[in-house]
Amino acid sequence: MERTDALHEVGRLRAEIEHHNRLYYLKDAPEIADADYDRLFRRLLELEALFPDLVTPDSPSQRVGTAPAGEFAQVRHRVPMLSLQNAMSEDEVRAFDERIHRFLGRPDEVTYVIEPKFDGLSAELVYEDGVLTVAATRGDGTTGEDVTANARTIRTIPLRLQAPPGPGDLFAPSPVPRLIEVRGEVYMPIARFEEMNRERDARGDALFANPRNAAAGGLRQLDPKITATRPLDFYAYATGVVDGLAVDSQWALLQALRDLGFPVTDLARRVTGIEAVIREYRRLGELRDTLPFEIDGTVVKVDDFALQRELGEVSRSPRWAIAFKFPPRREVTRVLDILVQVGRTGALTPVAVLEPVRVAGVVVRRATLHNEDEVARKGVRVGDYVEVQRAGDVIPEVVTVLADRRSGDERPFAMPDACPSCGGPVVREEGESVRRCVNASCPAQLREHLVHFAGKRAMDIEHLGDKLADQLVDRGLVKDVADVYQLRFEDVLAMERMAEKSARNLLEAIEASKERPLARVLAALGIRQVGEALARSLAARFHTMDALAAAATGAPAEGATDPLAAVEDVGPVVARSIRDWFGQESNRALVDRLAGAGVRMTHASSGAVTDPRFAGKTFVFTGSLTTMTRERAQALVADRGGKAAGSVSRKTDYVVAGADAGSKLDKARDLGVAVLTEEEFGAMVAGDDEGPAPDAS
Ligand code: IVH
Repeated sequence: MERTDALHEVGRLRAEIEHHNRLYYLKDAPEIADADYDRLFRRLLELEALFPDLVTPDSPSQRVGTAPAGEFAQVRHRVPMLSLQNAMSEDEVRAFDERIHRFLGRPDEVTYVIEPKFDGLSAELVYEDGVLTVAATRGDGTTGEDVTANARTIRTIPLRLQAPPGPGDLFAPSPVPRLIEVRGEVYMPIARFEEMNRERDARGDALFANPRNAAAGGLRQLDPKITATRPLDFYAYATGVVDGLAVDSQWALLQALRDLGFPVTDLARRVTGIEAVIREYRRLGELRDTLPFEIDGTVVKVDDFALQRELGEVSRSPRWAIAFKFPPRREVTRVLDILVQVGRTGALTPVAVLEPVRVAGVVVRRATLHNEDEVARKGVRVGDYVEVQRAGDVIPEVVTVLADRRSGDERPFAMPDACPSCGGPVVREEGESVRRCVNASCPAQLREHLVHFAGKRAMDIEHLGDKLADQLVDRGLVKDVADVYQLRFEDVLAMERMAEKSARNLLEAIEASKERPLARVLAALGIRQVGEALARSLAARFHTMDALAAAATGAPAEGATDPLAAVEDVGPVVARSIRDWFGQESNRALVDRLAGAGVRMTHASSGAVTDPRFAGKTFVFTGSLTTMTRERAQALVADRGGKAAGSVSRKTDYVVAGADAGSKLDKARDLGVAVLTEEEFGAMVAGDDEGPAPDAS
């Protein structure tokens, strides 16, 4: 076949496939049988295989997902993606309307567009000359993550824009905009979410808490092939930069987006005056339960773009729009039992086991009762009928007891005096509302710590979820989180539902996690009061774990300011908690073991951290050291960008010889590897100029 023939056929096939895609996914009105569609698709793949240079990013074949990315590239939004102020009541929405009147200084009623507030995650799709070139998450509003390959797998997202109908003439369509950034929500339909969770449960995979988390998890996959298996969808509702599309109102924009081929909700309404907005809000509230996707409220927008520009924005939110939220969903069900869970910090949390009930589209089986004071305040007993509430991604909670439905057989609940997991002592400190298990090796705490440590926001060890954590702790393979780095292939393979491939994947994920920057390691350690944001501040200030540990353990000199307190957001309570943590021998040993295992623990953006004398160099320790443990010495090397190895080879840069050094020292001499005394090594760590020059080897 000639290339030019293929070129024509490929073009025709793509147009045809996209046309049928739109009919199928957007309009829900297919015109051809699945088998015929498959035939078109297979023919396209065949031609693209024959002529690989004909593959373009907007080809429907590219929806199946390309090679995984190492990490997401950053994308700067040309126009920041703002967030919205919330209104929780009708009065708050009236106040929003009054502010607009005051600001504009005009008495006439304002025309608004009211839309559902989709509960997913927002994304921006950039089209240049009609072709999808970049898709990015919102991120912090200024910079997001490049998820282009993933977005391409979402069937309703056009890879190429449809030419909108021309003015009065269907046969002379208007040109597509030269540049348009389309914003909208990536979400997962409720039914698909539940189906996916059922399948995950059957496979023993961790379940997603709600469709929003599932959508976020699906879009933010490094491997687009995984995204392609997640049932994601999209609704367009706004734009960023636009060049070549003349619309002057939100209402006209929604129509224009529809014409370009985007999914746009047909639940939006244009109304005049705030009372009409409130009526529409109530209407959507009534529809909420019947919708196939989750909405957590409405978004009310001034329709006229000229007025929007006049109103502008304040503190990263537009003055011309507001999120008018629905109250959290509540349902009545029965408390079958009250269990006590042991958290990562040893906190005991009473949890109600419920007769399963569907709240806001999701089946709820458990609800938190927070702590014993809350149980007492609400008077919850086993057997009670209660109202449970689920607000967004918050864990469901018991709101009230329906005391008039009691039969008299309900059983009151009392918190245990011993830890339900390890039987260890439980204490409730002055001024605290929680009881804690104080046994440092309590398996329930360890399990929670392990799950937290491996979590997305911490060391991000993929494949290490709840179920695996259970097994690792139960089998005694993990006695503290650093043991994760000692796991061997055989250990992992012996786990339930673990095949060779998944075992290898897990070990690779563990290995990859060694590269996490200091902020994540700090967050992963689970130091009380140190969350993600604080961990980032600490990392930015101290750069290395050593420097932080030194600041946390050394007493500040008389009159000197406390180096911890100099960090933004660190108050006395936080400083105290960090000191307490590093004050414990077992915690310092844990840090050393992590460093010894090769966990990097340096601040991501600091060039100053990797010491040129250590960076990329391999050290071997032999004999016994007198001023520090060998693990500590290895940690010091790792902190500075070097590597500690177990045996001497030609690749070794330094051998550090302690007392009674044996065969490794001999081998170093044979191979001509530089040998350091413990003192010389100490000087090098301290950054003394007397230390060996970088090229001593
Ligand atoms: S418009 C400047 N319309 O709500 C206004 N947002 O807090 C830009 N959202 O991050 C947003 N449905 O993820 C808009 N119909 C809708 C929406 C919507 C959901 C989300 C969006 C945004 C958040 C604003």
